[in-house]
Amino acid sequence: MDNEKITEINNLLENAIKMESEGKKKDASEMYMLTYKKLIELAKNSHGKLKNERVKQADIILKTYKSLNGEDNTDNKISRGKKILETLNIEEPEIPKVTFNDVAGLENVKTEIMSKIIYPMRYKELSKEYDIEFGGGMLLYGPPGTGKTFIVKAIANEVKANFINVNPSSLYSQWFGQFEKNISLLFKAAYLLSPAIIFFDEIDTLVPKRSGSESDAAKRGVSQLLTEVGGLTSEKDKNIFIIAATNNPWEVDEAVMRPGRFDVKIYVPPPDYESRKRLFELKLSKIKYVNNINYDKLSKVTERYSGADIEFICKKSVQNVFMEVVKSGTKRDITTDDLINVISQIKPSIDETMLKRYQSYIMSM
Ligand SMILES: Nc1ncnc2c1ncn2[C@@H]1O[C@H](COP(=O)(O)OP(=O)(O)O)[C@@H](O)[C@H]1O
Ligand SMILES: [Mg+2]
Repeated sequence: MDNEKITEINNLLENAIKMESEGKKKDASEMYMLTYKKLIELAKNSHGKLKNERVKQADIILKTYKSLNGEDNTDNKISRGKKILETLNIEEPEIPKVTFNDVAGLENVKTEIMSKIIYPMRYKELSKEYDIEFGGGMLLYGPPGTGKTFIVKAIANEVKANFINVNPSSLYSQWFGQFEKNISLLFKAAYLLSPAIIFFDEIDTLVPKRSGSESDAAKRGVSQLLTEVGGLTSEKDKNIFIIAATNNPWEVDEAVMRPGRFDVKIYVPPPDYESRKRLFELKLSKIKYVNNINYDKLSKVTERYSGADIEFICKKSVQNVFMEVVKSGTKRDITTDDLINVISQIKPSIDETMLKRYQSYIMSM
């Protein structure tokens, strides 16, 4: 019973959005109202968490209705895009504050990204004249905590693009339609928010290797995703970039990895000696009581530690000293030993077996 109603509501909503995108304001607005009423009715007969979720979604639809009717003066592309994302349970997009300078090391990754995304976007005419290919999808893979998510935020900042962080679970959202429809809504929203970067974190969870037992809905979702990504490669003017990240590239659906989709694949390695030094420097740079730290020594003892590990080590060390100072009432600098002490207590999150697995994956490509 509920399923039928949900399908009906989905269709109504989809139509409303379609009409709105075609500029048929009046029809769209009627359609939103109808969707709202049906959804409220459904919510009334629901319970608990589901009820709350449905009321929340209905509220968003009502806001959309109001904005279309001029009762809300935020009627512009950006706010419409944001509203669609809100219905998809995706966090509000923004231009991140992280810059390339905040990223330690990863020089090869940066160069690649500069030439494939940042320069073509910045020098659009020039890249047309030189027939430079850009757009489409990029996949970052590598051990956990090496800065994949972080660097994508920095890219978004460099090109002043909205960063749309897609968490796999939001697209599988329980009540709200099928994966397939959510994918196409997501791309509509990105278009309204362009320039935008759609970031699929943990893409192996979103589109895992096929086992043959997937539901039809899941299969359609994957093919919808591929169609959208393929479409963007051919429509470069849309100003939308798709970047995916995974710690487990071997677990991603093969169709996604085929040419024409996520064409640029970049390995994000664990930080090397220099990068680890830089990581310590960066992560301690905001602390006033940091002087005379032996960064070489820290880097030497942190092989196999990820950027995330190093960030944690710095935070923990600073916190320890802070607690001590609160108790003693005497301020003091953070020392190399304070950091070494914490390092000795935590294990690196990267190991040899893990690295070998990436090596053999790279060889097999
Ligand atoms: N190369 C790096 N430069 C600066 N910070 C880093 C780097 N790698 C990791 N970090 C820090 O570790 C945190 C976690 O990294 P994240 O990007 O989430 O890793 P991943 O996505 O590869 O698992 C980041 O928020 C950042 O503060
Ligand atoms: Mg990540």
